[in-house]
Amino acid sequence: MNTSTNIQNELVNLEKNALDQLTSVKNVQELSDLRTQLLGRNGELTRILRSIGELDVNERKITGQASNALKSKLEHALDRKNTDLISEQSSNLESIDVSLPGKYKPIGRLHPITQTLRQILDVLRRLGFTVVEGPEVELSSYNFDKLRIPENHPARDMWDTFWIDGKDEPMLLRTHTSPMQIRYMETHEPPIRVAVPGRCYRYEATDMTHEWMLQQVELLAIDKGISLADLKGTLHEFARQIFGPDSEVMLRNSYFPFVEPGVELAVKFRGKWLEIMGAGMVHPEIIENAGYDSSVYTGFAAGMGIERIAMAVYEVDDIRHFYTNDLRFLSQF
Ligand code: PHE
Repeated sequence: MNTSTNIQNELVNLEKNALDQLTSVKNVQELSDLRTQLLGRNGELTRILRSIGELDVNERKITGQASNALKSKLEHALDRKNTDLISEQSSNLESIDVSLPGKYKPIGRLHPITQTLRQILDVLRRLGFTVVEGPEVELSSYNFDKLRIPENHPARDMWDTFWIDGKDEPMLLRTHTSPMQIRYMETHEPPIRVAVPGRCYRYEATDMTHEWMLQQVELLAIDKGISLADLKGTLHEFARQIFGPDSEVMLRNSYFPFVEPGVELAVKFRGKWLEIMGAGMVHPEIIENAGYDSSVYTGFAAGMGIERIAMAVYEVDDIRHFYTNDLRFLSQF
């Protein structure tokens, strides 16, 4: 027979056991099982509550209150445990370590030589030149002979290169973009104003200012009455736009078999004059060979080294940096 005292004892035991069990619950499933075991339709507390009906009115009141108090106490404890478990679980899932560095997202950009080349071509287009391209693998007659560099001419030594077996004549990786002077004149009539960008190759012992592959832009302007003053004016304006109005440039005499007179343009870089292009008035023989009358048509030509210009613009002290592909270098541009 149930008595009030029995029931009170049962409640005390139930509470103690329930709270013990609660502390060892490890996940939501276990918690849900415990909830059913205590408060479910056939749960321990439910069974006690049912037995209260057998007590007399006074006892029923007291034990009823005690049972209901325990019920809400257990519900609270179960709910709190539920909240704890859920937040524990979600913090395990998406733990955010705010001290971690941000994600490294490399942003692509153009190679410094490409950037420089594009700037140069922009300036040249504004000065009236049309951009055209020529072959990288060239016939030796175009690279040398037609430019007045015959076999055994000492100038060939300066442009030793990589040879390829040609069909009718030897071929080579062009040593300069000047062969395009001939190719363009052979297929066009004056007036001519072209800029020819392209890669050139030389059998070169590399050092701070020499690479075995270099990029050039060739200039060719042929028209009636073009003089050295036009060349000087063009190069001066070019230098002003690329290096800025205060930069120091110098035009001095030089020698190339395909121009007469020949000059070179140097820019002051780290206190030294850095040669950035060869130039000159197109040799009359070359004008004649192209089928133009050299007493009517004259012109100038120039060939500039893009890496040298980039070195001066960006203050890079070693030309070899450009093609080592070291991101620590490249990402600075
Ligand atoms: N082709 C010469 C070089 O590679 C440069 C040059 C071009 C000189 C045009 C004069 C005229 O160095």
